[in-house]
Amino acid sequence: MRTWLVTGGAGFIGSNFVLHCKRRSTMRIINVDRLTYAGNLMNLESLEDDPEHIFVQGDIRDRDLLRELLNRYHPDAVFNFAAESHVDRSIVGPDDFIQTNIVGTFHLLEEVLHYWEGMSGVERKEFRFLQVSTDEVYGSLGPREHPFSEKTPYAPNSPYSASKAAADHLVRAYFHTYGLPTLTTNCSNNYGPRQFPEKLIPLMILNGMAGKPLPIYGDGQNVRDWLYVEDHCRALHLVWEAGRVGEVYNIGGSCEKTNVQVVARICAVLDELFPDAAHSPHSSLIAYVRDRPGHDRRYAIDTSKIHRELGWKPEETFETGIRKTIQWYIENPSWVRSVQSGAYREWILKHYTISDRKQS
Ligand code: NAD
Ligand code: TYD
Repeated sequence: MRTWLVTGGAGFIGSNFVLHCKRRSTMRIINVDRLTYAGNLMNLESLEDDPEHIFVQGDIRDRDLLRELLNRYHPDAVFNFAAESHVDRSIVGPDDFIQTNIVGTFHLLEEVLHYWEGMSGVERKEFRFLQVSTDEVYGSLGPREHPFSEKTPYAPNSPYSASKAAADHLVRAYFHTYGLPTLTTNCSNNYGPRQFPEKLIPLMILNGMAGKPLPIYGDGQNVRDWLYVEDHCRALHLVWEAGRVGEVYNIGGSCEKTNVQVVARICAVLDELFPDAAHSPHSSLIAYVRDRPGHDRRYAIDTSKIHRELGWKPEETFETGIRKTIQWYIENPSWVRSVQSGAYREWILKHYTISDRKQS
């Protein structure tokens, strides 16, 4: 039976990936997650009775723990999702981003390298280390610039993207210097079930349902490329299966939208689902607030490589994906309550009440 070590598998994309893989085949997953504010065991509730899902609360900076897990479970692939992932938090406090995204990835690479060097010939050949990264490492595009390809030079602008860029460079170096069979993926903005409601789409859905303001940064014309999380999971699986070792694959939804367009679409679906809401039309809740410092204007992804080499393309459109996502948040109020805990409330209060809202 296949055994994979997944880091950050209690977070948004990691948990969707673990569930996706478990649905596809019988396999053992060792899931190491520090359970920061963004990690939530409720995401993995359906695997509670699955003896082949082994959850370990732990930090990817903890080399002793990593060594022990690698030696005990002998995985044939490692997927690194663990990260601090929110740009706004990286602006307020970059330390954790440097620690987890850079130091954590370095420690993980070191332990994986020693483990891999001790494997037999065939095992070494088949082993893969997959680094889950972001399109934000490429910086910001002008309105008419060609979307990011795998050859676009790195130009990160936030502490978050800079820390992810540093991690990607380390992964690249471990392939070139030591021959560790790595794969790197750079994906655009994900949305879907289980995303922590500090990010644009879940924040707008939950605020909209609660009749709270919908804070749009700056002029709302910043463009992001949106991909439904399940499509990302399928892409990661394919890259593991058929990706060429040492290569980078960009993943995206070919779905560029301004933030205003995204929020307007969410409001329209909420109007449809809750026509009698006191705050309908939901767009009346939109509030323009102070812009994010260094706010990247546009991200877009050229997906021709992953399409050409691996035959991947997204299955979900924004229209179908956003409806599924809204439905999921409606159907999971206990999940929503659990994440809107102390740490979440503190962030919302500090970030929107003190810094942004005062200028709106
Ligand atoms: P998330 O914040 O929802 O989840 C991150 C997970 O990592 C959490 O469960 C957290 O507890 C865990 N974690 C944090 N520090 C850790 C540490 N030191 N050791 C072990 N676990 C730790 O993030 P996400 O949105 O699921 O993103 C997952 C990965 O995908 C990240 O590497 C991110 O950079 C990348 N990515 C995200 C997006 C997106 O739109 N969300 C897009 C492209 C790439
Ligand atoms: P976010 O979900 O934080 O992802 P990222 O910054 O990694 O792209 O933000 C998506 C876009 O939405 C980004 O341009 C910032 C903007 N945004 C708002 O306008 N208001 C908000 O409250 C948030 C969280 C984001």
